[in-house]
This record gives sequence, C-alpha cells and structure tokens, in this order.
Amino acid sequence: MVSNLIVGNWKMNNDFVAAIHLTQQIGILARQADVAGVSLVVTPPTCDLRSVSSVIEADRLAIKLGAQHAYWEDGGAFTGETSIPMVKRLGCTFIIVGHSERREHFGMTDDAVAKTTASALRHDLTPIICVGESEEIRDNEGHVEFVSSQILAAVGGLTASQRRDVVVAYEPIWAIGTGKVASSEQVAEMMAVIRSAWPEDGGDITVLYGGSVKPENATELASTPGVDGFLVGGASLSGEQFVEIAAAAAKCYR
Ligand code: PGA
Repeated sequence: MVSNLIVGNWKMNNDFVAAIHLTQQIGILARQADVAGVSLVVTPPTCDLRSVSSVIEADRLAIKLGAQHAYWEDGGAFTGETSIPMVKRLGCTFIIVGHSERREHFGMTDDAVAKTTASALRHDLTPIICVGESEEIRDNEGHVEFVSSQILAAVGGLTASQRRDVVVAYEPIWAIGTGKVASSEQVAEMMAVIRSAWPEDGGDITVLYGGSVKPENATELASTPGVDGFLVGGASLSGEQFVEIAAAAAKCYR
C-alpha cells in the first residue's frame, strides 16, 4: 500500500536543463519545509528522466521519480514509444496512467489504460491511474457512473493483491488547468464513489485529487474526507508552490 503522495505532473514542460534546476530547487526547499509524512514525486518529460534521476541520486534529494506515460509492451517495433522497463531503468518507481490529456489528445482507451497498468505492476512500478469526468458528463449527472466504469475498466482484470499496489487520481477534466477547483463536497463524493466501485473493500486504497491544486486550496482539499494526496499540474512547475502544497498537505495528515 502506498500512502500520502504529492505528485508533480510537469506535462510537456522543462527541457533537461530546466528539469535539473527545478528538481534541485524542490529538493532544497523540501529540506527546509516540514513535509514529513508525505512523499514527493516528480514526473518530468521522458527525455529528462535520466538527468533528473542523476541529480536526485547525486544530491541525495528526498524526491521520487515517475514517468508521465510509457507503452505497455516491453520492447519491439513501436517507433517513438518508450517501454516501462526502460523508464524503470532510469529510476522511475511511479507512472501516471491514462491522464485525461492522453485519453483526449492521443486516443488512449480504457483498454490501453488497463494494459499499461498491468505492465507497470508486472515491473514493480506503482501506477497512478487517472479518472475523471468532463463538464458535460457532470452537467448530465453521469459522473458517478462514468468514473465507476473507468475504475472497473482499469483494475477489473487485475488480481486483488495487484490492486493493493495501485494509486488512483480523481481529476475532473473541467478542473484541470482551468483554475476551477472541485468543491470539498464534490471531491468527498467522488472519493467515496471510487472506493465503492473497487472490486474488494476499497477503504484503504490510495486516492489522490488533481485539478487546479494550489497552495491556497491545498489545506482544504487535503482535509477533505478520502483525499490521500494530490496530482499537481501547473503549480508543480514552481518549486516554491509545489513544496508549499506538500507542506500544507503534510500538516493535515500528521
Ligand atoms: P492542474 O493539472 O493542476 O494544472 O489543473 C492537473 C493535472 O493535469 O494532473
């Protein structure tokens, strides 16, 4: 089981030089802040993984590394893709699976999410499976059913013991990069929906919230029932904001 995580999703930002810089900044700020009780994870673009991994090791930074995406096959004729064993060799212990931007812009299906999740588990990486409804689905009150079906599609084919090693991130699409954050009530409802959609008792699975998390709303969101941490996009590109969010969350979890 994985517990409180603050994950920075850098998306397609920061070349390797900027990535080294931001990693060092996060590592140094995290030493000065009180982040005991939460794990900090950064997920840089794939081409930065080697550099970020080297700086984490050389400077002994308390930061874990994750990939934003990888292909589920271990190797072969898949031009342009990177496999999970490859990102693992670069020091990744986490991988984001099925982010809504992958689903929307790159046609990632529920089936691909399930295969990538299974591959991550096979190679001992922790998958962070992203689920979340669009504004239209929520307006039509289909969010509970939609997110429950995304959960079942992603983890339904795994064994119960594999499912214990999975992290879920609830990211309503309408809250991603929009500054429009879900209310505590909305988040609490969906945390419960995800746990009740789980094939076994989902009480102790790790569920993160993502969507316009900022230092200003981190305390309220981290105190929302069922929230075990965050997947942070925009604010993770600032070392100060990312560590402030982590410190605010850590305080709630202590
Ligand atoms: P945001 O992105 O924090 O910029 O809304 C979250 C995400 O896409 O994971």
